[in-house]
Amino acid sequence: MLLTTEQLEAYRADGFLLVPPCFEAAEIAALKDEAGKEFAVDSERRVLERNSSVVRSVYGSHVLNEAFQRLVRDPRLLGPAMQVLGDRTYVYQFKVNAKAAFGGDLWEWHQDYVFWLNEDGVPEPNLVNVVVFLDEVTEFNGPMLMVRGSHREGVIDCRRLADKPEGYEEGPSWIANLTADLKYSLGKEQLARLVDKYSLVSAKGLRGSVLLFHPNLVHGSGQNMSPFDRMISIVTYNRADNLPRPAAKRRPWFLVSEDHSPLVPLAGTVSLA
Ligand code: SIN
Ligand code: MN
Repeated sequence: MLLTTEQLEAYRADGFLLVPPCFEAAEIAALKDEAGKEFAVDSERRVLERNSSVVRSVYGSHVLNEAFQRLVRDPRLLGPAMQVLGDRTYVYQFKVNAKAAFGGDLWEWHQDYVFWLNEDGVPEPNLVNVVVFLDEVTEFNGPMLMVRGSHREGVIDCRRLADKPEGYEEGPSWIANLTADLKYSLGKEQLARLVDKYSLVSAKGLRGSVLLFHPNLVHGSGQNMSPFDRMISIVTYNRADNLPRPAAKRRPWFLVSEDHSPLVPLAGTVSLA
């Protein structure tokens, strides 16, 4: 799948682009099935909600699970990612965010690139997030909220949590990048100023919709107190010439991929069902 010139222009202006469903119901059902299997396995790739046994996210499934290995090479995701980044790309990070009915917790207001710059040494914001809605996302089940155009601000100087968040005291050092108390998040005044300057939008759509968003776009999402799950997968593609700087201590492979081989789109007519 390729984006039109108008779609590319909209992405560049707004910092995001919502594409109508381009996955069949059977493909989404198959991906949800695989996500369920991943959620059921106790592993350090899996993050639980605060003081709860409800799964929040699973990372790194694009390496270990065949369905997600194929998903990240699917031309419906990889095609637009290569167009947006203008070059060959590899998967920097992959996650499925569950945001379960009656329990999915919030994501504070943040930009993604500040984590990848400060924690991993990624030189430039030449990455793109490509989201697939594995459930319908509505106003009820905690849609992603985005400040349209805020990617133009570059990296915003923001709050930094020093310690591990409450409820995760026993967790590893990198856990503060993944919980409801994020390590780098924007304060109320900053957010109010940005919303005043730009505008607030929510990313809602049917199952199988695809959302692209820029790593400097300010975004977050609320709790899911509805009876509807809101599961999404997020592939972060990085441009192949934008590798993290060498570091003595790296975050684990499921947060920062170690395989930098540029991806080749799956050939022929692709079905993930
Ligand atoms: C969400 O799942 O609502 C937020 C994901 C993100 O911040 O990347
Ligand atoms: Mn984010």
